[in-house]
Amino acid sequence: EDPAKRTAFDEKVAAEGKIEPRDWMPEKYRKTLVRQISQHAHSEYVGMLPEGNWVTRAPSLRRKAILLSKIQDEAGHSLYLYSAAETLGVSRDAMLEALHDGRAKYSSIFNYPTLTWADVAAIGWLVDGAAIVNQVSLQRCSYGPYSRAMVRICKEESFHQRQGYEAMMALAQGTPEQKKMAQEALNRWWWPSLMMFGPSDKDSPNSEQSMAWRIKRDSNDDLRQRFVDMTIPQADYLGLTVPDPELKLNAETGHYDFGEIDWDEFWQVVNGNGICNRERLQNRRDAWDKGAWVREAAMAHADKKAARKLA
Ligand code: ACO
Repeated sequence: EDPAKRTAFDEKVAAEGKIEPRDWMPEKYRKTLVRQISQHAHSEYVGMLPEGNWVTRAPSLRRKAILLSKIQDEAGHSLYLYSAAETLGVSRDAMLEALHDGRAKYSSIFNYPTLTWADVAAIGWLVDGAAIVNQVSLQRCSYGPYSRAMVRICKEESFHQRQGYEAMMALAQGTPEQKKMAQEALNRWWWPSLMMFGPSDKDSPNSEQSMAWRIKRDSNDDLRQRFVDMTIPQADYLGLTVPDPELKLNAETGHYDFGEIDWDEFWQVVNGNGICNRERLQNRRDAWDKGAWVREAAMAHADKKAARKLA
């Protein structure tokens, strides 16, 4: 490692400059980014599945059209993110192979089932809401391609969050049965949404270095608190109750205090033992295998076109 290059890198990061693909960077910075961005891409990619489950059963044509375009957006997010990771010298095939053989992680949240239509509404409201809190912060990431991908993704996620909240409101203001469905979905998705922010700061092995390099700009616990503070008034407005008896506004800090997350459940899901982990991965592997002929045909077509140009 060249000490002058290292100093230039450190100075650029400290001055809020963006590191670009051709700039020198420490090998561990590169590796951390590949890990985080590829896992983020995988999350968007696997995240299509719980919602995809409801496309054929959406309660109206309007809801179906919205859901389809939202799922399409998530596919787009995974593509921007795979492209951002590719600028660090890793191939898309290698990233997908790591997902398919279980080496790479993706967000724990997508390993929970969507039992009713209200779960789809709750995902938009809570899961996309949590994703925005995390991603707004990542817009200031020191790595240029990742921070820029976050700008567009945040705009789209913001729309997703609003449509989820609006769908939740329709249920919460509907018949007693619909309100009950909304409450039950909130009960199911509340704690898993808080888990999206990762382990608490004291148990987060990557945080210190990632914060120093300005890959992450806020700590896991700070972002989780921001999400809770933002979401409780929204739940109140819906007339729904968050399933946490310890939740209370702390007059001194101005923040909501909340109960302890079930960390055992969190690690079980992260390590592959959640309700849907096996099903989700199998589904992705099958989609990859069934799409092989499309990739082969596209490559053959591209080769033929290139050969024609040469001739
Ligand atoms: N689900 C699955 N794995 C998780 C989760 C989670 N909710 N939270 C943390 N982990 C993993 C980390 O990836 C890390 O594993 P690894 O070292 O094998 O990669 C381990 O648990 C320890 O966690 P941290 O040290 O806190 O890891 P990190 O500094 O990467 O922070 C975080 C985790 C906050 C998720 C960060 O990676 C991040 O901000 N990622 C980008 C956002 C993202 O991926 N969002 C996906 C969901 S949003 C959506 O797709 C709609």
